[in-house]
Amino acid sequence: MVTVLYMAPGDKPDPWRDAFLAQMPDADFRVWSDDPAKDETGDPADIQYAIVWKPKPGVLKSLPNLKAIFSMGAGVDHLWNDPELPDGVPLVRLVDRCLTQGMSEYVLYWTIHHHRKMGVYAGWTAEHRWKRLRQADAEQRRVGILGLGELGSDAAQKLVPLHYQVAGWARTKKDIPGVESFHGPDQLIPFLNRTEILVCLLPLTPDTQGIINKDTLAALPKGACLINCARGGHVVDDDLIAAIESGHIEAATLDVFHTEPLPDDHPYWSHPKVTVTPHMASLTVPHSSTEWYVKNIQRMEAGEPPLNTVDRGTRY
Ligand code: GLV
Repeated sequence: MVTVLYMAPGDKPDPWRDAFLAQMPDADFRVWSDDPAKDETGDPADIQYAIVWKPKPGVLKSLPNLKAIFSMGAGVDHLWNDPELPDGVPLVRLVDRCLTQGMSEYVLYWTIHHHRKMGVYAGWTAEHRWKRLRQADAEQRRVGILGLGELGSDAAQKLVPLHYQVAGWARTKKDIPGVESFHGPDQLIPFLNRTEILVCLLPLTPDTQGIINKDTLAALPKGACLINCARGGHVVDDDLIAAIESGHIEAATLDVFHTEPLPDDHPYWSHPKVTVTPHMASLTVPHSSTEWYVKNIQRMEAGEPPLNTVDRGTRY
């Protein structure tokens, strides 16, 4: 029997408990709570695996027999809010078929939206205007994905059969059929120069913080659009708003923000060229992500290393 601690302050644990026990009925599934009356941690020495989202700093370090920490999100930047993450315990990123599928759906939906200028039509519809633009040719549309990890590479591969010219940029060269690969700091500007619809799916690390700023936005061709479904910290908001106001950037779809929920008075809410979605591009689904945790726990219990561990040096 394995003992698992679930720690996602503010989230509802029941769907996770149900999903976990359905797949690993003999597990001891405990829910951490800040409220001592509700906390199920028990003896910290019992806990072998932790499933976490924004864990409370210091708690993981107090678990002496912890074998692995599972992130409940594809992004693992939330883990570094804990300055006392225990050394030597593998951090495991979530790779979940529903998370990947949901993100690719979001990217395809908004890529097609910007390609076909559906935002312009929505404005005309609101004014009862019957007006048409010349139809764009997907074969001439250059889409660029910043970040070719699990999510970025899936979205890129799904855009290829739709006939877009797809390129991606990552820290290291990636080999994805039909996708032009750019890599490393030297190839960032050439990648942006050719990109008309830019999708950000990078991990948030000290190297990628603020990567979408006045210089990189200026490197995009005039009329380019942005889709950010990674983290708000990738974008310098004032630079993006200035680039939209100047007409250099035509429109942006933003799912993630520096502060979430996005404050009521933030200019993004009411900007006619900005679409805000509430960090819903892809959500963690209990039954499918539990398949990933259970698979990894079974591997580790059989003496094998977990899959998709995070490099603490690069932070992804
Ligand atoms: C959500 O933002 C995630 O990291 O999966």
